Amino acid sequence: MPENVDITWHDHHVSRTDREKLNGHKGGVVWFTGLSGSGKSTVANAVDAKLHQMGIHTYLLDGDNVRHGLNASPKILEESHSPEFAQRFGLGFGAQDRAENIRRIGAVADLFCQAGVLVLTAFVSPYRADRDAVRQIVESSGSAGDFIEVFVDTPLAVCEQRDPKGLYKKARAGEIKGFTGIDDPYEAPAKPEVHLPGGDATPDRLADQVITQLRKLGKLP
Ligand code: PPS
Repeated sequence: MPENVDITWHDHHVSRTDREKLNGHKGGVVWFTGLSGSGKSTVANAVDAKLHQMGIHTYLLDGDNVRHGLNASPKILEESHSPEFAQRFGLGFGAQDRAENIRRIGAVADLFCQAGVLVLTAFVSPYRADRDAVRQIVESSGSAGDFIEVFVDTPLAVCEQRDPKGLYKKARAGEIKGFTGIDDPYEAPAKPEVHLPGGDATPDRLADQVITQLRKLGKLP
């Protein structure tokens, strides 16, 4: 861990291995990425439910929910804080704010991983460098293989047709600026551990594919 003159890293008495032994399985970060409407939250929820049924300790961090609390938007923060505070600490959808969103989620996911939990995350996370930075953090505090990238590869046309929140329509009308896939980039993973054809199969089948892969990667007993 990097040392800082004012802040010192302390190792815990109970190790990650101790916690994993108690849990009966390994910790890890299962990172879903894909366009808005690709189905990443739906599939991640289905995986979460199936793993929970199997007795695996999981937790799901989900884009919209996290953006109500830890990574609240300026608008949400303004309900309880001054406009200056909300502007300074709230996160929007510019490239820097998305990077900070993903950095914080990565740090939280890493803590869950240290606690021996199999944490699932569902964020657009459109920039390869941001996702790779999380992989680096998670694998350097644990080991190679702790970060499992799941690309929910649903074509833009399908996401736009689904448009569950009506956001694509607004983006096309110019009411939302910088919408991923419309006037903001999505950088697909080059080598994801799991590549799901999001437009074709049911969420249940896609969730089974993820679980099969987690087993192959040694993450499940
Ligand atoms: S990111 O890019 O990872 O920081 O985004 P994330 O935290 O996952 O939040 C994505 C959800 O916010 C809504 N939304 C937008 N998405 C993309 N681009 C823009 N400009 C945008 N504005 C709002 C949208 O509902 C996303 O939810 P999902 O579940 O992905 O559809």
